[in-house]
Amino acid sequence: MLITDPKLLTALRQLEIERRPGVRLASWTSLGIGGTTDLLIVRERRYLPDLLQLLRGQGIRHRLLGGGSNLLVADGELPWVALRLARIEPTVRIEGKSVWVDAAEELGRAITTCAKANLGGLEGLIGVPGTVGGALRMNAGAYGAEIGNLVREIVVYRAVCGRIDTLRAGQVRFEYRRASFTPCDILLGARLELIERPFREVVDRIHVCNFNRRASQPLAERSAGCVFKNPPGSSAGKLIDEIGLKGFRIGGAMVSDRHANFFINRGRATCDDMHRLIEQVRSRVWSAFKIELEEEIVVWVN
Ligand code: EPU
Repeated sequence: MLITDPKLLTALRQLEIERRPGVRLASWTSLGIGGTTDLLIVRERRYLPDLLQLLRGQGIRHRLLGGGSNLLVADGELPWVALRLARIEPTVRIEGKSVWVDAAEELGRAITTCAKANLGGLEGLIGVPGTVGGALRMNAGAYGAEIGNLVREIVVYRAVCGRIDTLRAGQVRFEYRRASFTPCDILLGARLELIERPFREVVDRIHVCNFNRRASQPLAERSAGCVFKNPPGSSAGKLIDEIGLKGFRIGGAMVSDRHANFFINRGRATCDDMHRLIEQVRSRVWSAFKIELEEEIVVWVN
């Protein structure tokens, strides 16, 4: 959605919002798929309530874009604007084992900053693309690490009631690839409790995870990571592989021939290609195993 109302444009400037008019979200997502809209980059978090109120007042919907690494976005002109939190230094503040991380920080950068302070616990998540906010919302996990297990506090702007809340660990339910936030919540940052570990040891663990990931996942291709959650006791990639779907294509979208739960954009995939591929694979897995796969990726098609 392109904002044209001059009064609204002036108000956005007063809130120090950086507006990038008509960006293609394909350039802001790891899949390289996504239509056009205004991108509003929020620097001053204290202006968030005013911004959301302004947009609501004009009947403009918004979606919060993190690193764009777990997303399938519709093509064409999008009926909402995209918001993004600007990265503001310092994004990581370390006090002993307790680390405050800003939601806009890239997860990988946060992990290496902590490693330099002899802090580990997050090594398994190295190579998971995206922001800390996205990782918290999805309770990102890999190689035995899950971010939710290390959270002590989360600061969240609750858009519904216009309040900033600090939630303690017990007040947020972290489950496999989900956390109990509402779609309107905007995560601002978290305090994690990490594990004291010598730098060399953290780096060794990071290298092992990187090695395993490179060996099994198509990291050089455009993808959104694993498309489906693993069903209890099984692996979605293994099931899709077992029915011979590696390399299966619809238009420009293809099941990776390296890891069958990664669907890649071979260059010109549309959202519809990817969507149809997801439905085809889901339906074939159901026919073969009577297992219903549930998406892990977030789909913004309306
Ligand atoms: N497998 C196959 N064929 C494939 C893919 C996997 O046979 O095409 C087999 C593997 O050989 C292995 C088993 O399936 O025996 C599990 O595979 P893998 O170790 O790659 O783990 P995964 O369950 O497919 C999960 C996470 C990944 C995470 C890895 C490593 C989910 C949906 N996926 O994958 O997370 O990186 O473990 O911990 O939970 C993501 O969330 O986007 C993601 C990529």
